[in-house]
Amino acid sequence: MKLPPIIAPSLLSADFARFGEEAQAVIDAGAKWLHFDVMDNHFVPNLSFGAMCCQALRDYGITAFIDVHLMADPVEQLIEDFAKAGANSMTIHVETNHHNNLKNNLLKIRSLGCKAGLTLKPDTSIQQITPWLEYIDMILVMSVYPGFGGQKFIESSIEKLQTTRKLIDQSALSHSIRLQIDGGVGLENIQHIAQAGADTFVAGSAIYKSENYTETISNMFNQINL
Ligand code: DX5
Ligand code: ZN
Repeated sequence: MKLPPIIAPSLLSADFARFGEEAQAVIDAGAKWLHFDVMDNHFVPNLSFGAMCCQALRDYGITAFIDVHLMADPVEQLIEDFAKAGANSMTIHVETNHHNNLKNNLLKIRSLGCKAGLTLKPDTSIQQITPWLEYIDMILVMSVYPGFGGQKFIESSIEKLQTTRKLIDQSALSHSIRLQIDGGVGLENIQHIAQAGADTFVAGSAIYKSENYTETISNMFNQINL
């Protein structure tokens, strides 16, 4: 069962000098979620922004759902910091499962009132996700190597999405688990991605580098619903 589509613009491609304004602009343009890419220069080779910037968005008056993608390891402290800073959802990487701490981290995210997501890098098999299904609200299939916006969509992600969609639908949790895609999503491929089973679409450069956010987001919805 596919849940209603959500477009989540990635703030990584926003103009950082106008962070609050850029966040509000995509919400005004029809997006329901903001995708907040946290990079720690350790788990991935780049550094972005932390919980203080999430708090700054709340202080600025942003009330939209904030979907935090933690490309970081360790995440224990970050989970607490982001819950306090107003995050609504936190997605962690399955590759951070040292000493079987993944379950605790997922439970901690939920216990702090947030949705819990689990994601994997392009070279990690989706089977790694299976043991954790009961602890999550979303699976994020990464269709680029995490670390940078503006990369090209990795085509084999289509098959991974199809496999993941089956996995979700065959579980008892198909009414509650979202299937998110992140990396290289744009107007040229979003229809194909939706047909492969995704219901939650992260798009950074395709939205923030476009001339008109409203037009881009509404064209994306049209493609998804085709
Ligand atoms: C990549 C990030 C993505 C990225 C998406 O590490 O997780 O969210 O910013 O950007 P685009 O849509 O430009 O690939
Ligand atoms: Zn992301």
